Amino acid sequence: RKRVAVLISGRGSNMSALIDAAADPDFPAEIVGVISDKPDALGLGIAASRGLATKSLPRKDYSSKEAHDGAIDAALVAMKADLVVLAGYMRLLTAHFVEKWHGRMINIHPALLPSFKGLDTHRRALEAGVRIHGCTVHFVTAEMDDGPIIAQAAVPVLSDDTEATLTARVLKAEHRIYPLALRLVAEGKAKMEGGRTVYSAFHENEAKA
Ligand code: GAR
Repeated sequence: RKRVAVLISGRGSNMSALIDAAADPDFPAEIVGVISDKPDALGLGIAASRGLATKSLPRKDYSSKEAHDGAIDAALVAMKADLVVLAGYMRLLTAHFVEKWHGRMINIHPALLPSFKGLDTHRRALEAGVRIHGCTVHFVTAEMDDGPIIAQAAVPVLSDDTEATLTARVLKAEHRIYPLALRLVAEGKAKMEGGRTVYSAFHENEAKA
């Protein structure tokens, strides 16, 4: 099984969905640790209560962004992580760090990329009047929310949606596709090659949830 470390900044509901999926011995990855840049992240307590190694690495403890990412990298190496999963990690990673984990780091974004990169995706989707919204799992590249797409799920936008109801609907889809995408990557069935995601035959349909 591939060794996976999860980076979080908050609630950790996607992290929890991955821990649940990895509890199945047939899942091709195991969660070996959770790192947060926020010492008070709810997800850290959840991870600890599930018996996982946790580490809090606040940005303010380091003199530069590079030093902070260096400490995260050292923690990942100490955990012997094969793959890095960003699950609501709300900080941009330095190009050097991203390069080191090239093809081995994935992120979930709460929108159908390339639409609505950045923050406040659900509010902006409602403002734009889109009828379909969703979430995307992608390989991480130095450009924010821009790496090759691995899996997506679409949800309808309803006429009486508020930011809260739409957020909840998308989050449910996130919890469904993140384990699916991690499975594809851990099994080597979805790989980043030449700036694209390449799927091994027969598995492409699994990436449309
Ligand atoms: C999720 O909706 C995730 O897609 C989003 O933050 C939330 C974290 O929730 N990530 C981003 O916006 C990344 N820029 P969680 O901590 O409960 O998984």
